[in-house]
Amino acid sequence: MVMVVREIGVVGSGQMGSGIAQLAAVSGFHVVMVDSDENALKKGLQNIHSSIHRAINKGQLSKSVADDALQRLRCSTSLQEFHSTDVVIEAIVENENVKKQVFSELDKVAKSSAILASNTSSISITRLAAATSRPGQVIGMHFMNPPPVMKLLEIVRGAQTSEDAFVTIKGLAHRLGKTVICSQDYPGFIVNRILMPMINEAFYALYTGVATKEDIDTGMKLGTNHPMGPLELADFIGLDICLSILKVLHDGLGDSKYCPCPLLVQYVDAGRLGRKRGIGVYSYSGTPKSNSHL
Ligand code: 3HC
Repeated sequence: MVMVVREIGVVGSGQMGSGIAQLAAVSGFHVVMVDSDENALKKGLQNIHSSIHRAINKGQLSKSVADDALQRLRCSTSLQEFHSTDVVIEAIVENENVKKQVFSELDKVAKSSAILASNTSSISITRLAAATSRPGQVIGMHFMNPPPVMKLLEIVRGAQTSEDAFVTIKGLAHRLGKTVICSQDYPGFIVNRILMPMINEAFYALYTGVATKEDIDTGMKLGTNHPMGPLELADFIGLDICLSILKVLHDGLGDSKYCPCPLLVQYVDAGRLGRKRGIGVYSYSGTPKSNSHL
């Protein structure tokens, strides 16, 4: 049955989880954001507050709408809080085993009609669904970073995702103000299947001395009208995340064209993970941060 969604759960309070929770609360939904790490939860809530206050100061959100949104949002360290949610969106670390464990736990605590969605950037929805007793109600909701700003939602249908679950999530996406694209469940889906080889190629261009990082980025920004160059964007996404997606593409599609550039691997090994660590391809002065709003 197609469902009218009223309450949304979000697992994970990092950059993506807090951004999704903010978007859902501002869009009129009751939201519960859960993170097992209390400090991470506090930081996620702070991110939401500062992002919402910035929107108020810019005149994009009225104070009363913002206050209502914050009242509809609650936080917890326990997955039990999802007993009444209609849809739970998982946005935790990109690790298949950890995600499977969370899906198996969500399956036990969420009501039987609830849809379990993953914000995974590349892991198989079909395999996550197999960790539950409701594979028809498991689906991919791949938000782009930052979720409150980017217009796109990539919906991924697992091998067993039901038509009702798909239609429900498509309706939800429209209520969140997103334009939907639909991907079948193959490695990297649509966006990362195309984006990550471009980022990887930019690393190869840097690695083999074709050009400086600045010229590679300026080339793509001014030459193809991208808002960020590929190396700058990799820092924004997180070099560890880019590497893990490339490994999924390489393993899943078995083609050497997806082989991660040694320079990318070396940066990740060295802890140069991008903006969130204050250093990646570029150095970011001041406090480590994930983007200019956090
Ligand atoms: N939360 C809320 N709002 C935010 C925000 C955040 N985290 N970050 C930026 N914004 C808003 C600002 O308030 C501003 O709004 P306004 O124009 O209405 O005033 C707008 O976004 C632009 O922000 P800024 O002026 O501060 O900065 P920029 O003009 O440099 O834009 C950017 C920042 C939106 C991040 C832009 O550089 C951009 O679009 N970059 C590309 C991002 C991108 O490609 N994301 C997708 C990555 S791929 C992905 O996520 C998939 C994953 O699986 C890897």
